[in-house]
Amino acid sequence: EGIPLFVNDAMIDFTVPEARAAFPSAIADIRSRMGGKIPLYIDGKDVFTEDVIPTTNPANYSEKLADICQAGVAEVDAALNAAERAFYIWRDVSPEDRANYLFKSAEVARRKAYELSAWQILEVGKQWDQAFHDVGEGIDFLEYYAREMLRLGRPRRMGRAPGEHNQLFYQPKGIAAVISPWNFPFAISIGMAAAAIVTGNPVVFKPSSISARVGYNLTEVFREAGLPAGVFNFCPGRSSVMGDYLIEHPKVSMICFTGSMEVGLRIQNKASVVQPGQMQCKRVIAEMGGKNAIIIDDDADLDEAVLHVLYSAFGFQGQKCSACSRVIVVEPIYERFVSRLIKAAGDIKIGPSENPANYMGPVADVTLQKNVNEYIKVAEQEGTILLKRTDIPAEGAYVPLTIVGDIQPDHRIAQEEIFGPVLAVLKAKTFDHALEIANGTRFALTGGVFSRSPEHLEKARREFRVGNLYLNRNNTGALVERQPFGGFKMSGVGSKTGGPDYLLQFMDPRCVTENT
Ligand code: SER
Repeated sequence: EGIPLFVNDAMIDFTVPEARAAFPSAIADIRSRMGGKIPLYIDGKDVFTEDVIPTTNPANYSEKLADICQAGVAEVDAALNAAERAFYIWRDVSPEDRANYLFKSAEVARRKAYELSAWQILEVGKQWDQAFHDVGEGIDFLEYYAREMLRLGRPRRMGRAPGEHNQLFYQPKGIAAVISPWNFPFAISIGMAAAAIVTGNPVVFKPSSISARVGYNLTEVFREAGLPAGVFNFCPGRSSVMGDYLIEHPKVSMICFTGSMEVGLRIQNKASVVQPGQMQCKRVIAEMGGKNAIIIDDDADLDEAVLHVLYSAFGFQGQKCSACSRVIVVEPIYERFVSRLIKAAGDIKIGPSENPANYMGPVADVTLQKNVNEYIKVAEQEGTILLKRTDIPAEGAYVPLTIVGDIQPDHRIAQEEIFGPVLAVLKAKTFDHALEIANGTRFALTGGVFSRSPEHLEKARREFRVGNLYLNRNNTGALVERQPFGGFKMSGVGSKTGGPDYLLQFMDPRCVTENT
């Protein structure tokens, strides 16, 4: 009623001079005031701790964005107590009122969009456009889940039996622990938190330490939107100190996680053990990894395919769970495609993401840099290096953009998620063989096909078994509502973000029958 239909937030338009100018000025603005201590936010109040972890710019470690206060067990307890008190009020706030807080939060985020982007450019090395899209996706989640709650918040009459009135409706599950990754540090964090909040579940939010300053952006947005105390609690902390404690805590009803397969499986394991005093089965939503493939068919439009593969594999340094890390090329076109791919990848500009001329920047952190470099060694052993861009800045968390050929489907480079700019090239005899290779990993997140053959595209629809399949386009950048996002197999449990089933996971259905 009076609420306009959902539309995705506008993408950045660099032909507009004001939009171009807004980035350097937002970066300069946060630079002039960053570096201080960032508190936890518990029960509507700032909480400072002695223990802090600095967060720095991966392109220049000497630039500190903030010292992030660290929650210990005592702070987690305080946050859970605050969330519990809030729960008994928040669960009975009407869906309309809860949705309105999300609409207000979206307004705040939209007003701060350049500032929110600037934090990501400096903290995780996102390019201008990628940072802006991340913020836009966060806004989309707020707008979409608010509308979804209005849809699901209306009780439904069930059946038509005379003399009986049946009503089906949903209630929140309880307290949600939201544990988020650093790669979409605003969008994924606020998406999970917003879904929990709008369905009536107070949140204890643990951001990744790699992107904890962006994590604090959630506190800034929700506080400005006037969200009641205790409904959102910001609790960054060391996983070794408070990670398991939070997951295992009997007061936690659900855990919403996005990150690696290893951590996701560990969470599912821990959450399945009933603790003393625990009153409910915990639900885990875990979006995990991918080993995503793009198939290049023998009649593919190579002008398109090369550009889209580059973007899918190396956009934001390949650090997306959706990123392409395997390109599977059918034999007749192999040489032509691969030579063009390597030439184009050789021309990519690499340097600080703060400079929009650079296509690729540093990976987000020094530990990730080490991990990717280890995988490049494995690539060197398993295959033939076709391109290794060692012309990268010496300082900062840069890794060589790497393309490796002669990779077999069972190689580690073809099976394990690397999360960096390393692309494996595999040769297939036929299109069917390519599909078989594509499906031959534990993961099932995204996939892509470049082909002009209607039969092959049709076959891919049926047989390329991934959560999000893209035909003749790049395979990253799913948009809220248009491409509900998420996979299956070892890519995760739970239904797609930005889709019509997502909020149902945060609630328990009830049915009341009255004999009339
Ligand atoms: N939703 C993102 C994408 O589609 C990945 O998390 O790229």
